[in-house]
Amino acid sequence: MPHTILLTGAAGYIASHTWLALLDAGFDVVGVDDFSNASPVVLERLAELSGRTPDFVRADVGDAAALAAVFQSRRIDAVVHFAAFKAVGESTQKPLAYYRNNIGGLITVCETMRAHGCSRIVFSSSATVYGDPAELPIREHFPLSATNPYGQTKLIGETILRDLGASDPAWQTGCLRYFNPVGAHASGRIGEDPSGIPNNLMPYVAQVAVGRRARLSVYGNDYPTPDGTGVRDYIHVEDLAAGHVAALQRLLATPGSFTVNLGTGRGYSVLELVAAYAKASGREIPHDIVARRPGDIAACYADPALARELLGWEARHDLDRMCADSWRWQSMNPDGFKA
Ligand code: WQD
Repeated sequence: MPHTILLTGAAGYIASHTWLALLDAGFDVVGVDDFSNASPVVLERLAELSGRTPDFVRADVGDAAALAAVFQSRRIDAVVHFAAFKAVGESTQKPLAYYRNNIGGLITVCETMRAHGCSRIVFSSSATVYGDPAELPIREHFPLSATNPYGQTKLIGETILRDLGASDPAWQTGCLRYFNPVGAHASGRIGEDPSGIPNNLMPYVAQVAVGRRARLSVYGNDYPTPDGTGVRDYIHVEDLAAGHVAALQRLLATPGSFTVNLGTGRGYSVLELVAAYAKASGREIPHDIVARRPGDIAACYADPALARELLGWEARHDLDRMCADSWRWQSMNPDGFKA
């Protein structure tokens, strides 16, 4: 009997790629999303790519009754909690909305799980919990800090799950600290589709390459890095999806909880990514060096050894593949999921 996994925020960028990876690994999946930051078209693409009608329920994870109905009508073996607002800048403007949705939603999910005898959860965390690291590469035991409400919601989410596990050993939690997710499914049929002006580098570069944006602003070239621009650990969303499958397989097979970095262990600068994207797309990426973005750090990349040790997982795709898959998605869907 296959295990059934509930994905919250299931129509989102990382969740939709994880959905396909779980089906490929022999899991059954039920998805929940309120489409507040994702398109219903994603479900059509999942059906096309998987050959199966997605088991989906439209609901807000803060709606306890709707969530309970999902658990009452299925045997859920584990949950992957993706549903959260994730824009750093927006979080400083709307802190209450971020705490209500990101923390309130997690609590509702955990309360509903407990009421239905489900005690395994994978939590979508972020390297942002490390703040500005004193040394590199980053290890899981490094000091944690948050410099914005979004980062605080990830830090608090991890604390809630740690305290839950300490209160009742039946709980098994897996916190996955994503570094910089990029790229798209190799088919080009699903990918990252930010609403409005992209905050993150690769989707912005992709929109310049496809002609939706005129020029890229490079936020500073006076950082203490090899070429002066910011260095980040970009990780292919397919590798990230595989990391979630491995995390669930461990939770289902081995007692205990864990927190691991999901990164490649390799940092690339803004200008290195721009050059790689130009090569992958065959397009010029016009750009200007401008002032640093407030709150940005110089460099951030993972030591992924613990994920390799505990999950038997490591990232396999390099920057060229990340750019090639991103470009295929962007060029095949210049306006994202908008019909
Ligand atoms: C990467 C680099 C920028 C845009 C954020 C969140 C983090 C996570 C991933 C959710 C930096 C530079 C960017 C642009 C640029 N999100 N840049 N021009 O800031 O590392 O992480 O997204 O979990 O929590 O903090 O990613 O892609 O925004 O920036 O020069 O138009 O690209 O300065 O050096 P970041 P990013």
